[in-house]
Amino acid sequence: MSETPSSSKKFLRALQGDVQDVPPIWFMRQAGRYLPEYRETRKEAGSFLDLCYSPDHAVEVTLQPIRRYGFDAAILFADILVIPDALGQPVRFEEGIGPVLEPVTTPAELAKLNGSKVRERLAPVFETLRRLSKALPEETALIGFAGAPWTVATYMVGGRGSPDQAAAKLWAFRAPDEFQVLIDLLVEATGDYLLAQVEAGAEAIQLFDTWAGSLPPSHFERWCVEPVRRIRARLAKEAPDVPVIAFPRGAGPNYPGYFKVTGVSAVSLDTGLSPEWARDNVQTLGPVQGNLDPLLVVAGGEEMRIAAARIIEALRGGPFIFNLGHGIVPQTPPEHVADLVDFIRSYR
Ligand code: CP3
Repeated sequence: MSETPSSSKKFLRALQGDVQDVPPIWFMRQAGRYLPEYRETRKEAGSFLDLCYSPDHAVEVTLQPIRRYGFDAAILFADILVIPDALGQPVRFEEGIGPVLEPVTTPAELAKLNGSKVRERLAPVFETLRRLSKALPEETALIGFAGAPWTVATYMVGGRGSPDQAAAKLWAFRAPDEFQVLIDLLVEATGDYLLAQVEAGAEAIQLFDTWAGSLPPSHFERWCVEPVRRIRARLAKEAPDVPVIAFPRGAGPNYPGYFKVTGVSAVSLDTGLSPEWARDNVQTLGPVQGNLDPLLVVAGGEEMRIAAARIIEALRGGPFIFNLGHGIVPQTPPEHVADLVDFIRSYR
């Protein structure tokens, strides 16, 4: 944490440890299907991955929520599953199912993946970032991101989203040395990918570990904490000024240990933590972001404002970024997002 926050951007100042009366705001999945203008651009682009790999369209959808709500940070439009795609495990997104991949379940299939082409294959993503760093308002920070190795591995091994991540867990439990090869490949490829994002203009990085909560405590350290610690250490060396936020969703009482051991700059709080517990046990270690339940934004009204006020009251005494505890959902009325942003910005 720096003693003298120096950035002109509210979001980056919070990550440097600055305590602000009105917190900076951005929302996970702030670009997406709840916005009519997103659905329009998505139709034009073709498939979801075409949208991710078309800088024209990806820049446009990144900017849409900034134009509407003036968020303090924009997050690159892409997906965590562009990494398997770049490693040679093609990904497609199917209506009503989500991501679909040919599962990788044996050392032989693992050996076919190739980590040396990540920069080349993801070149359009870096072009999107270069254009965004020119197009964004002066006060808006630009966030790059990737999935954490464990979460990306759950999709690579399972071949699609699953309620329990059983396929990846079983591989990790039955043959940890084989599974380690996959995790090592992801640590390396994700580090390369994120460093290229920083070169292209990303000012902060978020690592999404959506399925961190599916590992038992006996295996949390090896498969969640250690890979993120390694990526963070590499970034700290090769891009020392760029803060890293991690989102170990579902980590519960492991949040403080995770924060300390990984050495990340900040953590994103899921919906399961009370903001008072987070203040006393997590924010004592550094900046936090979160943690409003996204369905409260679907509901809107007084119930949403009461919950938002409680979060602000609990966390604004320390470095804090207002966010949701998980991504915005497609059925969110855009007016409720506007109400919430107005409420946070006028709350005293
Ligand atoms: O606005 C942003 O936050 C930036 C873009 C972004 C997307 N996905 C766009 C997206 C980010 C940061 C992600 C992260 C992501 N992707 C995660 C981690 C965060 C989380 O929500 O838990 C995960 C697990 C994925 C994988 C993924 N991508 C799934 C499971 C799905 C299908 C489910 C769904 O919501 O449709 C996606 C598709 C996806 N990624 C969409 C968007 C806007 C919807 C695709 C569409 O337009 O049809």
